[in-house]
Amino acid sequence: MSLNTNIGGIELDNCICNGSGALCKDRDELINLNNSRTGAVITKTSTKDLRVGNPEPRYFDNEMLSINSMGLPNNGLQFYLESAKSITAKPYIVSISGFYIDEEPSLITYIQNKYPHVTGLELNMSCPNLVGKPQIAYDFEQFDNILTKIYEVNDCSIPIGLKLPPYFDMMHFDEATEIINKYPINFLTCINGLGNGMYVDLENESTIIKPKNGFGGIGGPCVKPIGLANTHQFYTKTKCDIFGCGGVSTGSDAFEYILCGASGVQVATQLVKEGTDCFSRINCELKQIMINKNYECLDDFKGKLNYIN
Ligand code: DHB
Repeated sequence: MSLNTNIGGIELDNCICNGSGALCKDRDELINLNNSRTGAVITKTSTKDLRVGNPEPRYFDNEMLSINSMGLPNNGLQFYLESAKSITAKPYIVSISGFYIDEEPSLITYIQNKYPHVTGLELNMSCPNLVGKPQIAYDFEQFDNILTKIYEVNDCSIPIGLKLPPYFDMMHFDEATEIINKYPINFLTCINGLGNGMYVDLENESTIIKPKNGFGGIGGPCVKPIGLANTHQFYTKTKCDIFGCGGVSTGSDAFEYILCGASGVQVATQLVKEGTDCFSRINCELKQIMINKNYECLDDFKGKLNYIN
């Protein structure tokens, strides 16, 4: 019984990984992930320069959801590239803001040549918390232009993935896949948080986070149906491998994502709540479901979702 997988050319011993943003910003957090059972270490989304992010409180969670407006606090791309040397136990995927890549697309060649310990890149096309900036992948023209630039100036031998926002309309799935299918993208991460949601604190009759008057990206259990739908749409419409993300907190959540076509899953809100013990717990729960169903590997059920008729 094995949970090994290959996502866009990246070999993982365990298909359960951390989601970018959760406990992956500072050195001690990255080392903790290296020593945990996560299948890969994925970094906080990085920008050119260090950012402190938005004012606090900027994160809240309960049993149903998380809401955040972190504002991209990170130590700058160079920090995450240099940290590659410390991640010895598993693949290391550096997340980079799509806006930074738009400004300096040749960065990818630089990273490939200078930092061979970096296993892959996840380009974040969907941060909802930057004041005055759109989510790139909702602006199809800008999305296409950035990808054109990337593949014009780099040979892209390093595996490249895109972190996508959730789509809700069939026309938008079609438009996004038409663009994605023009480029040799290795993997997609579906989905980032649902942008600009709001949580209301009933007792105080107020918002619960400070930035943007309480608007923030929503994750956690309530977004799973949207994550599953997006995973299945892109699984059927593209050739990219897929990291399912959004509301994974148990082995059955992971099983559902893989059934919808994911080759692995990312855990974010639950990682913040539980710490890195979540990886071995979810791994064991998924294996138990596979034993009960007589499955030996992910390929036995990956993408094999039944449609009732
Ligand atoms: C942040 C939130 C996101 O959902 C994301 O994709 C990137 C950054 C943030 O606010 O830090």
